[in-house]
Amino acid sequence: MFGFGAIIRLSLEPGGYGAAGDRFALRYRVIDTPTERLHALRPEAFVAGPLGFSSPFGAPNMVNTAPLPWGDRLFVTWDVGRPAELDAVSLRFLGEVGHVDSWRGSSLPDDKLTPFLFSTAHPVVDPDRNCLWTVKLVPVGFSPWRLQPWVVRYDGDGIEVRVWPVAGATITGSMHTITQTRDWLILADSGNFKADPGELTNGVRSVLIDDEVPVFLVRKDRIEQTPVGDEVAAEVFTVSPSTGHFYARYDDSDGVRVLFEHMDRTDLGFHLRADDTDAFGRPVDPALVGFYNMAMAPSSVSEVSFDPLTKTATREAFVCEEWSWSHQLSAMDWSTEGISAPTRHHIVFQGFRPSAISQRALTAYGDRVDRSAFPDDETAACLVSLERGSLEVSSVYEFPSLADFPSSPVFVPRECGVPGRSRYAGKDPGGHDGWVVCPVLSDDGFRVEVFDAGSVGAGPVATLGTSARTCLPFMLHSAWAPAAVSAPDAERLRFSQEVRRDVMSALSDADAAAVVRVAAELDEI
Ligand SMILES: [Fe+2]
Repeated sequence: MFGFGAIIRLSLEPGGYGAAGDRFALRYRVIDTPTERLHALRPEAFVAGPLGFSSPFGAPNMVNTAPLPWGDRLFVTWDVGRPAELDAVSLRFLGEVGHVDSWRGSSLPDDKLTPFLFSTAHPVVDPDRNCLWTVKLVPVGFSPWRLQPWVVRYDGDGIEVRVWPVAGATITGSMHTITQTRDWLILADSGNFKADPGELTNGVRSVLIDDEVPVFLVRKDRIEQTPVGDEVAAEVFTVSPSTGHFYARYDDSDGVRVLFEHMDRTDLGFHLRADDTDAFGRPVDPALVGFYNMAMAPSSVSEVSFDPLTKTATREAFVCEEWSWSHQLSAMDWSTEGISAPTRHHIVFQGFRPSAISQRALTAYGDRVDRSAFPDDETAACLVSLERGSLEVSSVYEFPSLADFPSSPVFVPRECGVPGRSRYAGKDPGGHDGWVVCPVLSDDGFRVEVFDAGSVGAGPVATLGTSARTCLPFMLHSAWAPAAVSAPDAERLRFSQEVRRDVMSALSDADAAAVVRVAAELDEI
């Protein structure tokens, strides 16, 4: 969770980008942020701790969680740093989003070169305003730990973002996702990762996830009417259980409607340790040490409608099945037409994985986990299509091997580029007409499976493998774009613009020299 981000680009047509005519180019690069470049020059200055690296330079920005296309531009994200922009062809770093001064400084009172910015791994691109909405989280209480969300807006050009604290809003976990409708931003406490100050001092995790989390609806026009830096009001609701990812229907003319991919009894704060025993009492596989503790209950999905006038949240649909264990990631049609009127939602569930559930976590949760619901043994992962609105299960595909670890699927529309449609839209938008492309991690070799989005249960219609059974490391999100295009001209933040004389004077000569060199290298891009 705290390693340097890497980006992998897979071409879905053979040839090109250096590949032979019958091969598909897979291009990989560790993202060369200022932190990564400083680490390459001064590895001895970085100290690994339970929450990642610390260094005299400040907090790292690992941008290791999600790629975010915005038109022909490509951004990468992390929950604990600013988004950064890459060139989609070279995969080289171009700049971070927003000068730290426009973010109004670090989330924590450190005053070093690279800021510590609690944020979200899933900002949203507003198709009407052509801007990026994201958040900054600012600690407002330490016992118990509480954070206030701030709305952050980036207009895509220039070195500044604009910020608005959300009045009276606090969360105890994190804000892994935000989502939007035409008129509203929807923020929620993801709830599945909570900081535990005690764990940092005595190694024992006692903070557990809550059964329900707050949701904040903020009107976009209210933000636009509020001076930058002033507080903006929100309507407050709750949802249950906690939820990592959630996606609103952009068209809110018929109300605010959100699909929540819940992470029932999934506590990402617990990771597997070498001295742990698993759910069946076996020593944890050393290969899994450091991995997160997987789901201790089947994962549910719900659709909730929010009425800001009556301040009511109504669960309109709900699904939770015996096969829906370990909800992983999902695929949907991200075109403007697709988010406006979504038809189908495709989710990977990674199965019941007792070898990745620790007795330590089970003990901490006690009777909040129903162990009688555990299957007798490990179960395979599956790819599932749900109808938007009803959440009717329209198709299920079970992966053939327990060793298959499907990662983030993407939706690829059929006949993209139809006149009159937006850049990412296919002929019949919504998520049902096209393909679901699913990377599958396996010790037998990485492969990519392609399903018909109309019938994933029929199994893959094509599979792409590596000739040498190459294995890729664990990865999180993926995203589809119609083409890899060099980044357009824009004014971007340069690392050198944040280098201040006072923080430089606090560095050793060798560290300061590294900063000067990295700043010069990045100024040349
Ligand atoms: Fe995510």
